[in-house]
Amino acid sequence: MITVRAAAKVNLHLGVGAPREDGFHPLETVYQAVGLCDDVVAYAADGWDLQVRGSDWVDLDAVPLDRRNLVARAAEVLAAHHGLRRTGHVEVVKSIPVAGGLAGGSADAAAALVALDRLWDVQTPDEDLLALAAELGSDVPFALLGGTALGTGRGELVEPVADDGSWWWVLVPSREGGLSTPAVYRRFDELRPDAPATPPSAQALLTAVATGEPLALARALHNDLQEAALDLRPDLAALLARGEAEGALRGIVSGSGPTCAFLCSTADEARAVAGALQGRDADDGADDPVTVLVATAPVAGAHVVV
Ligand code: C5P
Repeated sequence: MITVRAAAKVNLHLGVGAPREDGFHPLETVYQAVGLCDDVVAYAADGWDLQVRGSDWVDLDAVPLDRRNLVARAAEVLAAHHGLRRTGHVEVVKSIPVAGGLAGGSADAAAALVALDRLWDVQTPDEDLLALAAELGSDVPFALLGGTALGTGRGELVEPVADDGSWWWVLVPSREGGLSTPAVYRRFDELRPDAPATPPSAQALLTAVATGEPLALARALHNDLQEAALDLRPDLAALLARGEAEGALRGIVSGSGPTCAFLCSTADEARAVAGALQGRDADDGADDPVTVLVATAPVAGAHVVV
C-alpha cells in the first residue's frame, strides 16, 4: 500500500491570451501550491478499481469514477507508457473541492502517477512523468512540482520560482456547485474579443513574490479569468468584498473559480478573517454553515506520505 499527497493551487498571476489554433489559451501564470491536499492510496490488486471519499464540503457525487476521472486516465497513460496492464485498488481521499478552480482533479492525477509508479515499481524518469502529466491536463505538471512556479504554454510548461515567503490564505469554496473551466474560458472569449496573442506578463508578480511581503504580493495578484467567473457567478463579488472588509489584504477568484482566495498578512489575521466570514454567514441565516479553510503556502508537490 502506498499513500501519495498532492496539493491544491491558486494562481497568483493568470495572464490569458487569445485562443490558439488548437482552442487552448496561451498562458503566463504563476502557480502556488497551498496546504489543502488530497491523498491517493493505492493497493496492489489483480484488476482495476477506483473509489472516492472525502471531507464533507466536497461534492463527491460530482466526481466521475469512469474514464473521465483523471486518476483512471493517469493509470491508463502510465500503464501504456510501460506496456503494462492497468492494475490496482485506488482510493482518492478528497479535501480539495471539485470543479473549484483549485486544480483538485489535477492534484489527484499527479498523486496517482507518483503512487502507481511506486506500486508497479517502474521508476519512471521525472521528465517522462512531467510529459505524461501534460497529456492529462494543463495543471497536472505543476501538481507534480508544487511550491511556486511559472507556467507557460497552455500552463503545462513549468519552472520553479524561488519563494521564501510564508503566505497565509483563506479559501472559501462555493456552496452553489462548481464552475466548468471550458465555460469560463468561453465567457472570457466573449468578454475579451480583443485579448492579446501574447498573455500579460507575470513580471510584476514575480518581483512581488521575491519581496516576501504580503502587502506587495496582495497588490500584484492578477487573474484574467476573474471577470468571466464573476459574470457567470455574480454572487462571488459580494464575497470578495466581504473578505476584504473583514481584513484580508486582497481577495481573488482562484483560477477559473468559483473558490475565492483571500491573502492575509499573518496566521492570526487569517484566522480572524475566516472566523468573520463564517460568523457573518451564520448571521445571514443561511441553511448550511459556509466552509472556510485556512491554508499556508507554498507547500510541496505530489509526494509519498507512507
Ligand atoms: O488542460 P485541461 O484539460 O485542464 O483544460 C480543460 C479545458 O480548459 C480545455 O478543454 C479548454 O477548454 C480550457 N483551457 C484553455 N486554455 C488553457 C487551459 C485550459 O482554454 N490554457
